Amino acid sequence: MKSVVIEQPNQLTLAERPVPQPAAGEVRVKVSLAGICGSDSHIYRGHNPFARYPRVIGHEFFGVIDALGDGVSTARLGERVVVDPVISCGHCYPCSIGKPNVCTELVVLGVHRDGGFSEYATVPAANAWPVPDSIADKDAVMIEPFTIAANVTGQVSPQAHDIALIYGAGPMGLTTLQALKGVYGVKQVIVADRIDERLAMAERSGADWVINNSQRPLQETLAGKGVKPTLIVDAACHPAILQEAIALASPAARIVIMGFSSEPSQIIQQGITGKELSIFSSRLNAGKFPQVIDWLARGLISPALLVTHQFDYQHVTDAIELFEKDQRQCCKVLLTFN
Ligand code: NAI
Ligand code: MN
Ligand code: ZN
Repeated sequence: MKSVVIEQPNQLTLAERPVPQPAAGEVRVKVSLAGICGSDSHIYRGHNPFARYPRVIGHEFFGVIDALGDGVSTARLGERVVVDPVISCGHCYPCSIGKPNVCTELVVLGVHRDGGFSEYATVPAANAWPVPDSIADKDAVMIEPFTIAANVTGQVSPQAHDIALIYGAGPMGLTTLQALKGVYGVKQVIVADRIDERLAMAERSGADWVINNSQRPLQETLAGKGVKPTLIVDAACHPAILQEAIALASPAARIVIMGFSSEPSQIIQQGITGKELSIFSSRLNAGKFPQVIDWLARGLISPALLVTHQFDYQHVTDAIELFEKDQRQCCKVLLTFN
């Protein structure tokens, strides 16, 4: 079989590897579609401190179970599945309180262990979630990015009367936007970005007000209209954003950060305590696959609105380069296998 292998930073090969046999408790997935994410590019470019090389990248993938390890029910053969990349120990403190996404022994497919940019991938059977026939393949492959939005929104119980502000109209901002509008029915969702084409995508995904903050500070634009967001999600993740969010938030607002910057964010405590703000963070997803499958089955989200390109996996280098270079035209780029 062919696998997309990052041999070391900046060296990608389409390697010929033996088709893997599933270990006990695992299934083998014949991959048909996969999505490219910023973190795949970070591993490719050597910017992910957790990555070990060589590595088969890819943590957003969909396919069909074609082989079973010992102890897995034969009924699962032939199932259409989407794979949760989060593998956890099940007994550490975070696992015991329902946060397997920050397990002390966390293993992420495509990061710490070989992932889904491959004709076949073996994964724990419990990580392979069956997809109902009513959900199309190209929507199913988008479930993982929406689980990030499910995790973000799950931290803060969004309400219809919230005034939500999302920084960033990339894949993460847009999945969060669709969840806030389609699932939680938030009446006013504002999206800020520096790129007009991305803001146009946000409008298509239901944003009520889009703001290009490249020229004028966001705080000024919002203050001009007397708007104080009650729920803020930072899906742009520059370290300076947190303090800006603190400053422009309504009293009693909730802020969710999702960035991995190692640069310090300068924040003023008075701005937080004076308004009794709540600051949350969100990493990956904590068992959110069933929830997002349900959102899709009920037609609450529209993943297709995020997909801008599709490539055969043999052109993966072109696909990743386009994804990296052209944020105006690209949002989610899919790879097709077989
Ligand atoms: P992306 O790079 O495609 O999108 C980021 C967007 O933010 C871009 O459109 C950019 O123009 C915009 N932006 C940058 N600075 C801005 C500012 N000051 N104000 C407004 N907009 C600004 O990235 P993607 O894939 O949407 O991911 C977003 C962030 O989320 C990344 O930093 C990524 O590392 C992080 N992430 C976190 C996850 C988690 O579980 N915590 C999971 C996936 C991504
Ligand atoms: Mn991803
Ligand atoms: Zn654990």
